[in-house]
Amino acid sequence: MKPGATLIKHYLQFKDLRAEEYAYLFERTGIIKRRFKNYEKYTPLVDRTLAMLFEKASTRTRVSFEAGMYQMGGSVVNLTTTDSQLGRAEPIEDTARVISRMVDIVMIRTYEQSKLEAFAANSRVPVINGLTNEYHPCQILADLYTWIERRGSIEGRTVAWVGDGNNMAATWLQAAEILGFTLHVSTPTGYELAPASAGVRRSGCLKLFKDPIDACRNADIVTTDVWTSMGFESENDERTKAFADWCVDREMMAVAHPDAVFMHCLPAHRGEEVAAAVIDGPQSVVWDEAENRMHVQKALMEYLLLGRIG
Ligand code: CP
Ligand code: NVA
Repeated sequence: MKPGATLIKHYLQFKDLRAEEYAYLFERTGIIKRRFKNYEKYTPLVDRTLAMLFEKASTRTRVSFEAGMYQMGGSVVNLTTTDSQLGRAEPIEDTARVISRMVDIVMIRTYEQSKLEAFAANSRVPVINGLTNEYHPCQILADLYTWIERRGSIEGRTVAWVGDGNNMAATWLQAAEILGFTLHVSTPTGYELAPASAGVRRSGCLKLFKDPIDACRNADIVTTDVWTSMGFESENDERTKAFADWCVDREMMAVAHPDAVFMHCLPAHRGEEVAAAVIDGPQSVVWDEAENRMHVQKALMEYLLLGRIG
Protein backbone atom coordinates (compact mmCIF):
# COMPACT_ATOMS: atom_id res chain seq x y z
CA MET A 1 0.00 0.00 0.00
CA LYS A 2 1.18 3.55 -0.76
CA PRO A 3 1.63 6.20 1.93
CA GLY A 4 -1.37 8.50 2.29
CA ALA A 5 -2.24 8.53 5.95
CA THR A 6 -5.25 10.79 5.49
CA LEU A 7 -7.09 8.22 3.36
CA ILE A 8 -6.58 5.36 5.79
CA LYS A 9 -9.48 4.42 8.02
CA HIS A 10 -8.38 3.31 11.48
CA TYR A 11 -10.50 1.96 14.33
CA LEU A 12 -8.80 3.37 17.42
CA GLN A 13 -11.88 4.18 19.48
CA PHE A 14 -15.63 3.67 19.17
CA LYS A 15 -16.27 7.21 18.01
CA ASP A 16 -14.08 6.68 14.93
CA LEU A 17 -17.22 5.42 13.13
CA ARG A 18 -20.61 7.09 12.69
CA ALA A 19 -24.03 5.62 13.53
CA GLU A 20 -24.77 4.81 9.89
CA GLU A 21 -21.42 3.01 9.56
CA TYR A 22 -22.35 0.92 12.60
CA ALA A 23 -25.71 0.08 11.01
CA TYR A 24 -23.82 -1.11 7.93
CA LEU A 25 -21.33 -3.14 10.01
CA PHE A 26 -24.09 -4.88 11.98
CA GLU A 27 -25.86 -5.79 8.73
CA ARG A 28 -22.61 -7.19 7.27
CA THR A 29 -21.94 -9.07 10.52
CA GLY A 30 -25.30 -10.84 10.13
CA ILE A 31 -24.46 -11.86 6.56
CA ILE A 32 -20.92 -13.00 7.42
CA LYS A 33 -22.09 -14.92 10.50
CA ARG A 34 -24.83 -16.73 8.54
CA ARG A 35 -22.31 -17.78 5.88
CA PHE A 36 -19.97 -19.11 8.57
CA LYS A 37 -22.78 -21.07 10.26
CA ASN A 38 -23.79 -22.59 6.91
CA TYR A 39 -20.19 -23.60 6.06
CA GLU A 40 -20.30 -21.26 3.03
CA LYS A 41 -16.82 -20.21 1.97
CA TYR A 42 -16.34 -16.43 1.96
CA THR A 43 -12.77 -15.37 1.23
CA PRO A 44 -12.67 -11.67 0.22
CA LEU A 45 -9.29 -11.15 1.94
CA VAL A 46 -7.17 -13.63 -0.03
CA ASP A 47 -3.53 -12.45 -0.09
CA ARG A 48 -4.17 -9.94 2.71
CA THR A 49 -2.13 -10.18 5.90
CA LEU A 50 -3.12 -9.12 9.41
CA ALA A 51 -0.36 -8.38 11.95
CA MET A 52 -1.39 -8.67 15.59
CA LEU A 53 0.72 -7.01 18.24
CA PHE A 54 0.04 -8.01 21.84
CA GLU A 55 1.62 -6.14 24.73
CA LYS A 56 -0.95 -7.65 27.13
CA ALA A 57 -2.39 -11.17 27.43
CA SER A 58 -5.41 -12.33 25.43
CA THR A 59 -7.53 -15.36 24.65
CA ARG A 60 -10.62 -14.05 22.81
CA THR A 61 -9.00 -11.22 20.88
CA ARG A 62 -6.18 -13.44 19.66
CA VAL A 63 -8.39 -16.32 18.56
CA SER A 64 -11.22 -14.22 17.10
CA PHE A 65 -8.93 -12.07 14.92
CA GLU A 66 -6.73 -14.97 13.87
CA ALA A 67 -9.55 -17.41 13.07
CA GLY A 68 -11.56 -14.63 11.40
CA MET A 69 -8.73 -13.56 9.11
CA TYR A 70 -7.97 -17.15 8.02
CA GLN A 71 -11.67 -17.79 7.37
CA MET A 72 -11.71 -14.76 5.06
CA GLY A 73 -8.79 -16.17 3.07
CA GLY A 74 -6.02 -14.04 4.55
CA SER A 75 -3.09 -14.82 6.79
CA VAL A 76 -1.89 -13.65 10.19
CA VAL A 77 1.39 -12.73 11.88
CA ASN A 78 1.35 -12.65 15.68
CA LEU A 79 3.86 -10.61 17.70
CA THR A 80 4.19 -10.02 21.42
CA THR A 81 6.37 -7.60 23.35
CA THR A 82 8.69 -10.35 24.48
CA ASP A 83 9.25 -11.95 21.07
CA SER A 84 9.67 -8.67 19.13
CA GLN A 85 12.06 -5.72 19.30
CA LEU A 86 9.33 -3.72 21.07
CA GLY A 87 10.46 -5.44 24.27
CA ARG A 88 13.97 -4.09 23.60
CA ALA A 89 12.77 -0.48 23.29
CA GLU A 90 12.43 -0.06 19.53
CA PRO A 91 10.21 3.04 19.18
CA ILE A 92 6.57 2.33 18.35
CA GLU A 93 6.79 4.78 15.42
CA ASP A 94 9.63 2.78 13.82
CA THR A 95 7.75 -0.47 14.45
CA ALA A 96 4.72 1.00 12.67
CA ARG A 97 6.77 2.18 9.69
CA VAL A 98 8.26 -1.29 9.24
CA ILE A 99 5.27 -3.55 9.91
CA SER A 100 2.88 -1.48 7.80
CA ARG A 101 5.12 -1.89 4.73
CA MET A 102 4.68 -5.65 4.92
CA VAL A 103 1.07 -6.28 5.92
CA ASP A 104 -2.37 -4.92 5.00
CA ILE A 105 -3.94 -4.33 8.40
CA VAL A 106 -2.74 -4.25 12.03
CA MET A 107 -4.45 -5.02 15.34
CA ILE A 108 -2.76 -3.81 18.52
CA ARG A 109 -3.39 -4.50 22.21
CA THR A 110 -1.32 -2.17 24.36
CA TYR A 111 -1.27 0.13 27.38
CA GLU A 112 -1.73 3.86 26.66
CA GLN A 113 -4.08 4.96 23.87
CA SER A 114 -1.33 7.44 22.90
CA LYS A 115 0.90 4.51 21.94
CA LEU A 116 -1.77 3.13 19.63
CA GLU A 117 -2.25 6.60 18.15
CA ALA A 118 1.50 6.96 17.58
CA PHE A 119 1.49 3.64 15.73
CA ALA A 120 -1.50 4.69 13.60
CA ALA A 121 0.07 8.04 12.76
CA ASN A 122 3.04 6.22 11.24
CA SER A 123 1.15 3.35 9.62
CA ARG A 124 0.44 2.96 5.91
CA VAL A 125 -2.41 0.55 6.66
CA PRO A 126 -5.53 0.50 8.88
CA VAL A 127 -4.94 -0.01 12.61
CA ILE A 128 -7.50 -1.58 14.97
CA ASN A 129 -7.61 -1.13 18.75
CA GLY A 130 -7.56 -4.60 20.34
CA LEU A 131 -7.75 -2.99 23.83
CA THR A 132 -5.90 -0.13 25.49
CA ASN A 133 -6.04 1.22 29.03
CA GLU A 134 -8.62 3.71 27.76
CA TYR A 135 -10.86 1.79 25.31
CA HIS A 136 -11.99 -1.62 24.03
CA PRO A 137 -14.11 -0.82 20.94
CA CYS A 138 -14.10 -4.31 19.35
CA GLN A 139 -15.69 -5.72 22.50
CA ILE A 140 -18.49 -3.15 22.54
CA LEU A 141 -19.05 -3.80 18.83
CA ALA A 142 -19.61 -7.48 19.70
CA ASP A 143 -21.78 -6.65 22.72
CA LEU A 144 -24.02 -4.37 20.68
CA TYR A 145 -24.35 -6.96 17.93
CA THR A 146 -25.26 -9.55 20.59
CA TRP A 147 -28.05 -7.25 21.80
CA ILE A 148 -29.25 -6.43 18.28
CA GLU A 149 -29.47 -10.05 17.13
CA ARG A 150 -31.63 -10.91 20.15
CA ARG A 151 -33.70 -7.81 20.72
CA GLY A 152 -33.28 -5.33 17.81
CA SER A 153 -32.22 -1.70 18.01
CA ILE A 154 -30.31 -0.40 21.04
CA GLU A 155 -31.66 3.13 20.53
CA GLY A 156 -33.63 4.38 23.54
CA ARG A 157 -32.58 1.41 25.69
CA THR A 158 -30.73 1.47 29.02
CA VAL A 159 -27.41 -0.19 29.80
CA ALA A 160 -26.30 -0.48 33.45
CA TRP A 161 -22.57 -0.52 34.12
CA VAL A 162 -21.63 -1.82 37.59
CA GLY A 163 -18.00 -1.58 38.74
CA ASP A 164 -14.81 0.04 37.54
CA GLY A 165 -14.94 3.19 35.39
CA ASN A 166 -12.45 1.50 33.07
CA ASN A 167 -11.77 1.02 29.33
CA MET A 168 -15.00 -0.93 28.84
CA ALA A 169 -17.10 1.67 30.67
CA ALA A 170 -15.56 4.52 28.64
CA THR A 171 -16.31 2.67 25.40
CA TRP A 172 -19.93 2.00 26.44
CA LEU A 173 -20.23 5.76 27.03
CA GLN A 174 -18.94 6.60 23.55
CA ALA A 175 -21.39 4.07 22.11
CA ALA A 176 -24.29 5.56 24.10
CA GLU A 177 -23.59 8.99 22.66
CA ILE A 178 -23.34 7.75 19.07
CA LEU A 179 -26.16 5.19 19.06
CA GLY A 180 -28.65 7.01 21.32
CA PHE A 181 -29.06 4.90 24.44
CA THR A 182 -28.69 5.71 28.15
CA LEU A 183 -25.79 4.47 30.25
CA HIS A 184 -26.38 4.03 34.00
CA VAL A 185 -23.09 3.85 35.88
CA SER A 186 -22.32 2.93 39.47
CA THR A 187 -18.68 2.82 40.58
CA PRO A 188 -17.00 2.95 43.98
CA THR A 189 -15.59 6.35 44.97
CA GLY A 190 -12.24 6.92 43.32
CA TYR A 191 -13.03 4.70 40.31
CA GLU A 192 -15.52 6.98 38.51
CA LEU A 193 -16.04 7.24 34.77
CA ALA A 194 -15.09 10.74 33.61
CA PRO A 195 -16.93 11.73 30.38
CA ALA A 196 -14.17 14.16 29.35
CA SER A 197 -11.42 11.55 29.62
CA ALA A 198 -13.71 9.08 27.83
CA GLY A 199 -13.75 11.52 24.94
CA VAL A 200 -17.45 12.37 25.35
CA ARG A 201 -18.42 16.06 25.36
CA ARG A 202 -22.19 15.87 25.90
CA SER A 203 -22.93 13.58 28.80
CA GLY A 204 -26.76 13.63 28.56
CA CYS A 205 -26.69 9.89 27.89
CA LEU A 206 -24.92 9.24 31.23
CA LYS A 207 -26.65 8.81 34.61
CA LEU A 208 -24.61 8.21 37.74
CA PHE A 209 -25.76 6.17 40.76
CA LYS A 210 -24.15 5.71 44.15
CA ASP A 211 -25.85 2.37 44.79
CA PRO A 212 -25.35 -0.29 42.06
CA ILE A 213 -28.87 -1.63 42.56
CA ASP A 214 -30.30 1.77 41.56
CA ALA A 215 -28.19 1.70 38.38
CA CYS A 216 -29.70 -1.69 37.46
CA ARG A 217 -33.33 -0.60 37.91
CA ASN A 218 -35.23 -1.14 34.60
CA ALA A 219 -32.00 -1.67 32.66
CA ASP A 220 -32.12 -3.72 29.44
CA ILE A 221 -28.50 -4.79 29.75
CA VAL A 222 -26.63 -5.22 33.03
CA THR A 223 -22.89 -5.45 32.55
CA THR A 224 -19.67 -5.42 34.50
CA ASP A 225 -15.97 -6.26 34.22
CA VAL A 226 -13.05 -7.34 36.38
CA TRP A 227 -12.22 -5.16 39.38
CA THR A 228 -8.58 -5.01 38.32
CA SER A 229 -7.80 -4.52 34.65
CA MET A 230 -4.54 -5.56 33.00
CA GLY A 231 -1.78 -3.13 33.90
CA PHE A 232 -3.31 -2.25 37.30
CA GLU A 233 -2.34 -5.44 39.14
CA SER A 234 -0.36 -3.56 41.82
CA GLU A 235 -3.68 -2.03 43.00
CA ASN A 236 -5.36 -5.41 43.40
CA ASP A 237 -5.62 -5.48 47.22
CA GLU A 238 -7.09 -1.99 47.57
CA ARG A 239 -9.46 -2.62 44.66
CA THR A 240 -10.71 -5.87 46.20
CA LYS A 241 -11.76 -3.90 49.29
CA ALA A 242 -13.22 -0.94 47.40
CA PHE A 243 -15.30 -3.03 44.98
CA ALA A 244 -16.77 -5.53 47.49
CA ASP A 245 -20.34 -4.15 47.05
CA TRP A 246 -20.10 -3.99 43.25
CA CYS A 247 -20.85 -7.63 42.51
CA VAL A 248 -23.69 -8.21 40.04
CA ASP A 249 -25.95 -10.66 41.86
CA ARG A 250 -29.50 -11.99 41.55
CA GLU A 251 -30.86 -9.04 43.52
CA MET A 252 -29.46 -6.60 40.94
CA MET A 253 -30.79 -8.66 38.02
CA ALA A 254 -34.22 -8.81 39.71
CA VAL A 255 -34.69 -5.02 39.53
CA ALA A 256 -33.62 -4.85 35.87
CA HIS A 257 -36.17 -5.18 33.04
CA PRO A 258 -37.67 -8.72 33.10
CA ASP A 259 -36.16 -9.35 29.64
CA ALA A 260 -32.75 -7.93 30.59
CA VAL A 261 -29.56 -9.70 29.62
CA PHE A 262 -26.31 -9.94 31.54
CA MET A 263 -23.07 -9.17 29.66
CA HIS A 264 -19.40 -9.51 30.57
CA CYS A 265 -16.48 -9.14 28.16
CA LEU A 266 -14.62 -12.00 29.94
CA PRO A 267 -12.42 -13.22 31.52
CA ALA A 268 -14.71 -13.21 34.60
CA HIS A 269 -14.12 -13.83 38.28
CA ARG A 270 -17.14 -15.54 39.79
CA GLY A 271 -17.77 -14.32 43.34
CA GLU A 272 -16.01 -11.01 42.65
CA GLU A 273 -17.61 -8.73 40.04
CA VAL A 274 -20.37 -11.26 39.24
CA ALA A 275 -22.15 -14.03 41.12
CA ALA A 276 -21.93 -17.49 39.54
CA ALA A 277 -25.76 -17.63 39.58
CA VAL A 278 -25.85 -14.63 37.22
CA ILE A 279 -23.05 -15.39 34.76
CA ASP A 280 -24.12 -19.05 34.55
CA GLY A 281 -27.83 -18.17 34.75
CA PRO A 282 -30.57 -17.84 32.12
CA GLN A 283 -30.10 -14.11 31.46
CA SER A 284 -26.39 -14.41 30.68
CA VAL A 285 -25.32 -13.98 27.04
CA VAL A 286 -21.58 -14.00 27.67
CA TRP A 287 -20.76 -16.92 25.33
CA ASP A 288 -22.60 -15.25 22.44
CA GLU A 289 -20.66 -12.05 23.15
CA ALA A 290 -17.38 -13.96 22.94
CA GLU A 291 -18.34 -15.71 19.69
CA ASN A 292 -19.61 -12.49 18.16
CA ARG A 293 -16.18 -10.92 18.59
CA MET A 294 -15.12 -12.97 15.58
CA HIS A 295 -18.13 -12.14 13.41
CA VAL A 296 -18.07 -8.36 14.05
CA GLN A 297 -14.31 -8.18 13.55
CA LYS A 298 -14.59 -9.98 10.21
CA ALA A 299 -17.09 -7.32 9.14
CA LEU A 300 -14.81 -4.60 10.50
CA MET A 301 -11.72 -5.88 8.65
CA GLU A 302 -13.75 -6.26 5.46
CA TYR A 303 -14.95 -2.64 5.81
CA LEU A 304 -11.54 -1.16 6.61
CA LEU A 305 -9.87 -3.03 3.73
CA LEU A 306 -12.53 -3.19 1.02
CA GLY A 307 -15.03 -0.47 1.92
CA ARG A 308 -18.72 -1.10 1.39
CA ILE A 309 -19.64 -4.30 -0.43
CA GLY A 310 -22.29 -4.11 -3.15
N1 CP B 1 -12.72 -9.81 26.14
C1 CP B 1 -11.45 -9.89 25.72
O1 CP B 1 -10.92 -8.97 25.08
O2 CP B 1 -10.83 -11.06 26.03
P1 CP B 1 -9.27 -11.39 25.88
O3 CP B 1 -8.55 -10.55 26.90
O4 CP B 1 -9.19 -12.86 26.17
O5 CP B 1 -8.84 -11.06 24.49
N1 NVA C 1 -10.98 -4.17 31.50
C1 NVA C 1 -10.30 -5.40 31.20
C2 NVA C 1 -10.86 -6.02 29.97
C3 NVA C 1 -10.24 -7.34 29.58
C4 NVA C 1 -10.77 -7.89 28.30
C5 NVA C 1 -8.80 -5.14 31.05
O1 NVA C 1 -8.44 -4.11 30.46
O2 NVA C 1 -8.01 -5.95 31.54
